Amino acid sequence: MSEFTKTAIVTGASRGIGKAIALRLAEAGMNVAVCARNEAILSTYNDSRIMPVIADVSDFNQVEELVNQVLEQFGRIDVVVNNAGITRDNLLMRMSNEEWEQVLQVNLTGTFYVCRAVIRQMLKQRYGRIVNIASVVGVAGNPGQANYAAAKAGIIGLTKSLAKEVASRQILVNAVAPGYIDTDMTQVLSEQQKQSIVNHIPLGRVGQVGDVAELVHYLVSDTNMYITGQVINVDGGLVI
Ligand SMILES: NC(=O)c1ccc[n+]([C@@H]2O[C@H](COP(=O)([O-])OP(=O)(O)OC[C@H]3O[C@@H](n4cnc5c(N)ncnc54)[C@H](O)[C@@H]3O)[C@@H](O)[C@H]2O)c1
Repeated sequence: MSEFTKTAIVTGASRGIGKAIALRLAEAGMNVAVCARNEAILSTYNDSRIMPVIADVSDFNQVEELVNQVLEQFGRIDVVVNNAGITRDNLLMRMSNEEWEQVLQVNLTGTFYVCRAVIRQMLKQRYGRIVNIASVVGVAGNPGQANYAAAKAGIIGLTKSLAKEVASRQILVNAVAPGYIDTDMTQVLSEQQKQSIVNHIPLGRVGQVGDVAELVHYLVSDTNMYITGQVINVDGGLVI
């Protein structure tokens, strides 16, 4: 750990993977601004290192406001984890334009907005770590998730391009692609669907939020000085 206290932003951190990442970074000694769309987030944390901010990542003005609040409070932004994400599943034949647009707007455009809003500060600092949460679905595709898979594949292209743009300033940008992780997002699946997914996972179990949080912590820590532009699956071997 460096001599100064790092400041992180984790989006979509009211629950699930985002919350586990926020708590892991706070445990590592960072100040962590956590954002979600509603006030529920305010009641879920009880940690002096954590600053809850209400912001919708699909609205650029709210993202700018979030970044300004963090800079006012802590003076730097060292780490950003773009985790906020939604699903609106449907077969492409039945998918409405709205279902397509909502998922692209939150998952992909929201990630772009946050990267754009923080990158100037990171360039000034000549230091930064960005992790974008993608999905193995963005690599392998999935029936019923054309919108989600396209957004997650887009995140991978964004990650690789930005990594090349900012590497000379010691800003490392990576994507983490979870497989099937046990969260509210996956609770909508039936027991039968869950079992059939587990049957395809070589490690024979669904993932836990901590499995993702540990990797994210590694990537944003100073132990990682040489990994950038990568997409790392956390999926128990589901996509090999
Ligand atoms: N659970 C899985 O199996 C799985 C697999 C692959 C990828 N992922 C990805 O991991 C991330 C977290 O997933 P999760 O399972 O914890 O989901 P979740 O639904 O439990 O949590 C999503 C979080 O994003 C927030 N959010 C949604 N829209 C937002 C917006 N517009 N602005 C700000 N916050 C917003 C929600 O409030 C919530 O805190 C997502 O990007 C998801 O696509 C999850």
